[in-house]
Order: sequence, then structure tokens, then C-alpha cells
Amino acid sequence: DEAARSRRIAAAREELGDRVIVLGHNYQRREIVEHADFIGDSYELSKRAAESDAEYVVFAGVTFMAESADIITDDDQTVILPSMEASCPMAGMAEAVQVDSAWEMLVEESGGKDIIPVTYMNSYADLKAFCASHGGLICTSSNAADAFEWAFERGDAVLFLPDKHLGRNTADDLGIDGVVEWDPWAGDVAESMGAAGEVDPEIPDLGDAEVILWDGYCQVHERFRVDHVEEAQADGAKVVAHPECRPSVVAAADEVGSTSHICDVIENADPGETWAIGTEVHLARHLARWHPEVDVRPLCGDACMDCNAMRQVDPNYLTWVLEELAAGREPNVVEVAPEEKELAAVALDRMLEL
Ligand code: 13P
Ligand code: SF4
Repeated sequence: DEAARSRRIAAAREELGDRVIVLGHNYQRREIVEHADFIGDSYELSKRAAESDAEYVVFAGVTFMAESADIITDDDQTVILPSMEASCPMAGMAEAVQVDSAWEMLVEESGGKDIIPVTYMNSYADLKAFCASHGGLICTSSNAADAFEWAFERGDAVLFLPDKHLGRNTADDLGIDGVVEWDPWAGDVAESMGAAGEVDPEIPDLGDAEVILWDGYCQVHERFRVDHVEEAQADGAKVVAHPECRPSVVAAADEVGSTSHICDVIENADPGETWAIGTEVHLARHLARWHPEVDVRPLCGDACMDCNAMRQVDPNYLTWVLEELAAGREPNVVEVAPEEKELAAVALDRMLEL
């Protein structure tokens, strides 16, 4: 049961002392974040890891987050992911090998446009490395607009990967009209499924395009709809939404921002205010517990907006990795290959210099 598991975690941590740090992403369940030294967004947590001297960084989050932690921590720090199954489906929607060949087509067809890739933090290390080697940078949901401006100082257009909604929302924010969506493999997929369709990868009509959006999305945030926002507002709530939501949802919300911004909105809300949270349901539940003076509720009820990837990190796995470390073994190590690590670090450094 939970009490017994907590005792086992405490015993393993006692044994390890300050050799270990446990990081819990905002979307992890209560039974995980209660054991975390720090709770936060993906990038904040990686910085916490790098600032600490801990030999082991146990990252309760998804693979791309553990990779980012490995990229920015020292070589003598080891990053451990409690479940190797915890992979963000959106990060998997832009595989570096696929992007690489699509990139060649895009450059060929662009008529001499200077295209800069901008890659969301929610991506694998090899895509971050690709981005660096083509003059691009990384962004998070809190600095995407600055990253676009950085890119436009150096080129004529941005290829934004993988999240089309964050890309479109950022372009809207900056008043950019020339936005095209691009799914280069739509024809191939249709063909392999036996459906009628184009066989050749499709090249978007680049025309005056300033922003080209890769066809990725978050399956959790995409499920929020405008009528969820309108219902919450009709019920007296203000709505704060994550920019991975559809542009129509973002336009209807009262506030928009990253998971850290969502936390700030609730921290600064007046007692008695009602806020509906348009992001993964566990963060809404944490905020309701942490701020009982504010009426915090998930946008669209409790049931549907649960991230399966985050859910892979079961509290029993957290117990297991800590006990293994205490016993001198290293389970579930996440290690980015050295050449990828070096390039991905360049793309991350460009973000830091924004
Ligand atoms: P953060 O970068 O705010 O941690 O969000 C990560 C994420 O997966 C959003 O869906
Ligand atoms: Fe990925 Fe969406 Fe889950 Fe975030 S909420 S980890 S973007 S699937």
C-alpha cells in the first residue's frame, strides 16, 4: 500500500543521501510529486538537476525530458527514468531521420528561401541535434515567440517542429499571416494503408510562407474544444490554457501559457476566484490541493485529459529505481550519444542566449 511504499522510498533515499535528486514534472501523479525534491516544468527541472551536485538524477517525467537533463548536466551525473516506456507521442511525431529527408525536399522546393528550423523542447535529442546543425534553436512554450524572432533575424522562414498548434499560436501572437501546415508523408501513409492518394511526398505551396508547421500535436491538449472553454466561462470560471491547445481554444481562453505560467496564474489569483485549467489533469489536481483558497478545476472535468506517457511512471517504479540505486545498481539510465549531445547542447545554448 501507499504507506509501505513511502517507507521503502524513504529508506532508499536515506541510504543514498545527497547522491540522489528526485525531479517530478508538473503532470506526474500525487504519489510521485510528493517524493520529489523539485516539481516544475521540463526545462526548469533540467536546470535544477544541472545546479545540483547529485550523482543520480531520477527524472519522473518522459524520455525527452530525461534526455534534456542528460544534455545539460555534468558528465559525472547519471540520469535515471523510472519507466523507459514513458515516451511523449508528440516527440515521436517528428523523427530526425524523417525530418532530415523532408528537409532536403523543402530546401529544394523553397526557391532559395533561407529556412531556419525551430524545435520545441518536446522532441528527441537527435532532432535537437539536427536543428543545431541547420542553424536553428530550441524553444519551450514560454519562449517560442522570442525563438521565432531570433530565427527571423537570421532567415526568411521558420520550420517549426513538432507541435503545429504551438507553432500556429506563436505565429498568431506575432501577427504572422503566412503560415502553412505541412504533412510531407500524408501521401505515403495513405498509399501504405492501401487508400487512394498521392504517393509522392507533398511539398506545401510556400508562396509567401513565413512559418511552415510540421504536422505534430499533443493528443492530450488537442482534445480541448472551444465549447469546454465557453461552458466553464458560463459557469463563472476564468480559463487558463496551455499553448499546445488548438488556436480556437487559445483564442477563447482568458490566459495562455506554459505549465509554469499556469502555476503563476493560480498562485496570484485572489481567494474565491474560479479557474479552469486547460492542460493535463494532474496539474489541475495539484493546483487545487496547493491552493484551496482558489476554486481550481480541470477544464472539461476530471476524466479525459490524462497523459498516458506521464502515467507510465508508476510509483512502484520510482520505488524500484531508488532501491536499485541504493543497492549499487544503475537501472534505466538515459544517455544521449556524445556527438548528438554536443550538437543538441548548441541548440539549447542558443535558446538560453535569447
Ligand atoms: P512543460 O515544458 O511546460 O513542462 O510542458 C511539457 C509538456 O509535455 C506539455 O504538454
Ligand atoms: Fe507529450 Fe502531450 Fe503528454 Fe506533454 S501532455 S508529455 S506533449 S503527450
